[in-house]
Amino acid sequence: MTINEAKLNEFVGKMVGDMGAAMTGALMLVGDKLGLYKELAKGALTSTALAERTGTAERYVREWLAAQAAAGYVEYDAAKQTYTLSPEQAMVFAEEGSPVFMPGFAEAIAAVWRDEPKITDAFKSGKGVGWHEHDPCLFRGTERFFRPGYAAHLVEHWLPALDGVVEKLQRGARVADVGCGHGASTIIMAQAFPRSRFFGFDYHAPSIERAKQAATEAGVADRTGFEVAPAKSYPGSGYDLVAFFDCLHDMGDPVGASRHVRETLAPDGSWLIVEPFAHDELSDNLNPIGRIFYAASTMICTPASLSQEVGLGLGAQAGERRLREVVTQGGFTRFRRATETPFNLVLEARP
Ligand SMILES: C[S@@+](CC[C@H](N)C(=O)[O-])C[C@H]1O[C@@H](n2cnc3c(N)ncnc32)[C@H](O)[C@@H]1O
Repeated sequence: MTINEAKLNEFVGKMVGDMGAAMTGALMLVGDKLGLYKELAKGALTSTALAERTGTAERYVREWLAAQAAAGYVEYDAAKQTYTLSPEQAMVFAEEGSPVFMPGFAEAIAAVWRDEPKITDAFKSGKGVGWHEHDPCLFRGTERFFRPGYAAHLVEHWLPALDGVVEKLQRGARVADVGCGHGASTIIMAQAFPRSRFFGFDYHAPSIERAKQAATEAGVADRTGFEVAPAKSYPGSGYDLVAFFDCLHDMGDPVGASRHVRETLAPDGSWLIVEPFAHDELSDNLNPIGRIFYAASTMICTPASLSQEVGLGLGAQAGERRLREVVTQGGFTRFRRATETPFNLVLEARP
C-alpha cells in the first residue's frame, strides 16, 4: 500500500481540528460553570481582572484564555494583553437562551464521554442503555440546548404549519406533550396559549420533577400538569394535539406509541412529531449535521430504544419515509412534512 503524502497531510490536518475541538469541549464546560464567558461578554479583560471578577485562580484562567484564543473562541489583544468576546462569540458562549447558545450542547456531549464505558459494553452484549441510565448532565444539557430552538420556532413557525391547530389552542385545547423531558416545549406552549391545558408525560421521574418546578418558576403551573407515564399508556383522551419532541426515535416501540396516540387523540386531533432532520438515504446524511446526529444516535438514542420493549432502534436519522411507516402502522391515515429547519423535521399525522 502506497501512502499519498498530500492526502495523509490533509486528513491529519482535519483530525488536528477535530481533536482540538474535542479537547476544547471540556474547557467550554469550565467557562460555562465558572461564569468566565458571561463576564468576558461585558467587555475586554486581562486574565487578572477576569479571575478577580469570577473568584477564580489567575494562573488557571490565563491558561484557559490562551486555549480559548487559540480555538478562535475569544479575541486576544496582544498589545493590551486583554481578551474579549465579539458579539457573535457572546451569542454562542454567554447568552443563555440565544438560538445559537452552545454550552448546553457541550453539557450533553459530556454525558457521552462519561457514559462511554456503558455503551462500549453494550456493543458487546447487544443490550440497551436507557435514557435514565445516563449521567444527569444529559438531561440538563438537552433542556438547555433544545429550549432556544423551541422558543424560536415552536409558536411562530411549527404550530402554525399544522392544520387548524393554532385556532384550537387560542380557543382552549387539551394538549399532551409526550416524552416532555424537563418540559421546555410544554412551558413555551403554555405561555403562548393561556386558555389551553397542557399535560406533560415522560417515563423518567427526575425529568418530570424538574418539569413541575420549571412550570412553577415560569408561572404556568395553573395550566400545566406533569406526570410520570410511558408513551404507550399515558392517561387521558380527547386530546386536540399530541406532541412528541425529539423522542419518538428514542422509544423501543414507536408503533405502539403511535397506536396509543391514535386512541387518545380527539377524532379531528393532530399529532405533531418533531424529529432530527434527516434524509431517507444514509449517503445523503453524510454532512456536519448528520455527523452529530449519527454520533448522538450511537451513544444515546439507539441504546435508549434497545433498552425498551420491542427495541426497534429507529435511530436519530430514520428519515421521513421510515417515520411514515411507523406512524401509519399505528393507525394514522394522513401524514405529511409540515415544515422543517436545518436541524428538525416537523411532521403532522392525523387520524
Ligand atoms: C431527547 S429527550 C427529549 C426531551 C424533550 N422532549 C425535549 O425536547 O427537550 C427524549 C425523552 O424521551 C423520553 N422517553 C424515552 N422513551 C420514552 C417512553 N417510552 N415513554 C415516555 N418517554 C420516553 C426520555 O425520558 C427523554 O426525556
